[in-house]
Amino acid sequence: MVKLEEQIQILDFPDLGDERGNLVVVEGGSAIPFDIQRIFYIYGSDDEVIRGKHANLKSEFVMINVSGTSKVKVDNGLESRIIELDRPRMGLYLKSMVWKEMYDFSPDSVLLVLSNEHYNPEEYIRNYDDYLKMVRK
Ligand code: TYD
Repeated sequence: MVKLEEQIQILDFPDLGDERGNLVVVEGGSAIPFDIQRIFYIYGSDDEVIRGKHANLKSEFVMINVSGTSKVKVDNGLESRIIELDRPRMGLYLKSMVWKEMYDFSPDSVLLVLSNEHYNPEEYIRNYDDYLKMVRK
């Protein structure tokens, strides 16, 4: 089985800002390890909500809290880890087939998510038992 540390990566984006403020650039294929096909963002969730709870057959993701903070629990069926997204220059890269749960959103949280794939509900695995069967066989 693949180790979790090979399936996820913390990205640290350079800040091109100056006295006028901060500027963070993320380009597909360089700062982001894939060509970006989809962008979505999550806001208005609170500290009682758990989002995600799925893995993807094909989609990879980079998650960035461009405002506020949230936590992401990542799990590969063998190991799990909790990552706090707490600064706009930080990205969490998830390869496909990583189970993820996003939670503990601060009131000002805006969680930006980039993906290498267009949305296709058929590549989402939303049942954890099914996920375990797939990764453990
Ligand atoms: P969902 O996968 O439950 O969101 P999260 O991963 O944050 O828990 O998606 C909520 C709804 O939005 C669901 O009906 C599917 C739809 N959706 C799209 O149409 N396109 C997308 O890229 C995403 C992420 C969701």
